[in-house]
Amino acid sequence: MSVMVVQVLADQQRFKLDRSDDALFYAEPRFVHHLDGAFRARLTALYRQRIPPCAVVLDLMSSWVSHLPETVSYERVIGHGLNEQELAANPRLDQHWIQNLNEEQQLPLADASVDVTLIVAGWQYLQQPEAIAAELLRITRPGGQVIIAFSNRMFVQKAPQIWTDGGDRDHLDYVARVLEAQGWPRPEILAETTKAEGPLGWLGGQGDPFFAVIASRPLKVPDPLQKR
Ligand SMILES: C[S@@+](CC[C@H](N)C(=O)[O-])C[C@H]1O[C@@H](n2cnc3c(N)ncnc32)[C@H](O)[C@@H]1O
Repeated sequence: MSVMVVQVLADQQRFKLDRSDDALFYAEPRFVHHLDGAFRARLTALYRQRIPPCAVVLDLMSSWVSHLPETVSYERVIGHGLNEQELAANPRLDQHWIQNLNEEQQLPLADASVDVTLIVAGWQYLQQPEAIAAELLRITRPGGQVIIAFSNRMFVQKAPQIWTDGGDRDHLDYVARVLEAQGWPRPEILAETTKAEGPLGWLGGQGDPFFAVIASRPLKVPDPLQKR
């Protein structure tokens, strides 16, 4: 199935400070956590609640961790990212591939072949998010979902203007707007504070704020152009 892409961003909103090839930025593996323990615990709890054990899961824009609950096994977990060493070290992935999504948006996956796609701290680096959202609709089985999670941090030089110019609420609205423009139904939005792990949390300290945009593919996909 070929996908129809409805543009949402103006060209200048796709500009980023560091315009060099993203593959160079991710050439060296980073075996670090990009989000704190409180955020990760919240994300894993969400996955436990929302992803059925029989699911085919795609962890798009992944690294050496997928944040899936350790006690649940899925039918298959497919990983994607920009660093081979990180993906090879990720214990949850059954297979993976490397692709720069700012260069090529078509995903090498069959129509309706994935139950749940996860994007964690990744959407903020997409310069062609509309084409990715359209591809996600194509590869998602009817009734399947996308779960896009992020906090309030970013590699500023690698994030396009649409992200660097906005606040948390703008980011949520923007992700939802791009999904809806491609035919995804109105997504569910989660915006939560987290409690810092350990003594800091006991004293009321907060962890990374938790944001997620969750959309489910309907049984019949409406033509996005008919919505206008
Ligand atoms: C902050 S890391 C988050 C990694 C992982 N999802 C996690 O939770 O630790 C951002 C990730 O986005 C992905 N990424 C960034 N720019 C990309 C691009 N142009 N094409 C494909 N993936 C990209 C890479 O996989 C990179 O590891």
